Amino acid sequence: MLYDLIRKTRSFRRFVEEEPIAMETLRYLVDLARLGGSARNVQPLKYVLVNTPAVRAKIFPHLGWAGYLKEWSGPKEGERPAAYIVCLLDTRLSKEADCDLGIATQNLLLGAAEKGLGGCRIASLSPRLRDVLELDDHLQVLLVIALGKPAETVSLNEQGPDADIKYWRDAAQVHHVPKRSLQDIIAGEYD
Ligand SMILES: Cc1cc2nc3c(=O)[nH]c(=O)nc-3n(C[C@H](O)[C@H](O)[C@H](O)COP(=O)(O)O)c2cc1C
Repeated sequence: MLYDLIRKTRSFRRFVEEEPIAMETLRYLVDLARLGGSARNVQPLKYVLVNTPAVRAKIFPHLGWAGYLKEWSGPKEGERPAAYIVCLLDTRLSKEADCDLGIATQNLLLGAAEKGLGGCRIASLSPRLRDVLELDDHLQVLLVIALGKPAETVSLNEQGPDADIKYWRDAAQVHHVPKRSLQDIIAGEYD
C-alpha cells in the first residue's frame, strides 16, 4: 500500500554503519529521482553518489543533525550513514530547483524505504563540503541525503492544532515526529 510506504518513509539519523549499500542501489535510487517532475522539464539536478568509507568520513563533519535535539550532536561511530547522495544544482541550467528537489528526493526516499533502507535529507551543511567533493564552479550543493539500514525506531504522532511540532526522543531513544492532523491542515472543502 502506498499509504504504508509513505508512513514508513521517515527521516532516519542512526544507521547500521557496517551494512554496505551497493553503488548499483544508489544508482537505482537516483534513477527514481530522475523520473520525477521538473519545472519546465529542465532537469537541473545532478548527483554525487558515495559509498566508500574514506569519502564518507570526509563528508560527515560537514553535516548538521537534528537541530531540535540539542543534547545530541549526531550519530556516533557505528551508527553513521553507509552512503550519501549529494544533490546538486547545475546553475548553467537553472538558478533554483526547490520544487524539483522535493519531488526527486521524495521519490528517492520512497525507493529506499521499499528496499528496507532509510535516509535523511540534510540541508544544514557547511560551505566547505563543496571543496571535499571538488565540484566544478557551476555545481551548487543543495542537499545531502544520508542513507543506511535504520538503527532507530521512528514513530509518528498525531498532533492537535496548537501542539508542538518539534520532534523528540523518549527514554527508550524512540524518535517521535509530530504531524499536524488531517483536519488541521485542510483549510477548506467544497464537496
Ligand atoms: C528540505 C529539508 C531539509 C532538512 N534538513 C535537515 C537537516 O539539515 N538535518 C536533519 O537532521 N534533518 C533535516 N531534515 C529532516 C526533517 O527534520 C524531517 O523531515 C522532519 O523532522 C520530519 O520528519 P519525517 O521526515 O520523518 O517526516 C530536513 C528535511 C527536509 C524536507
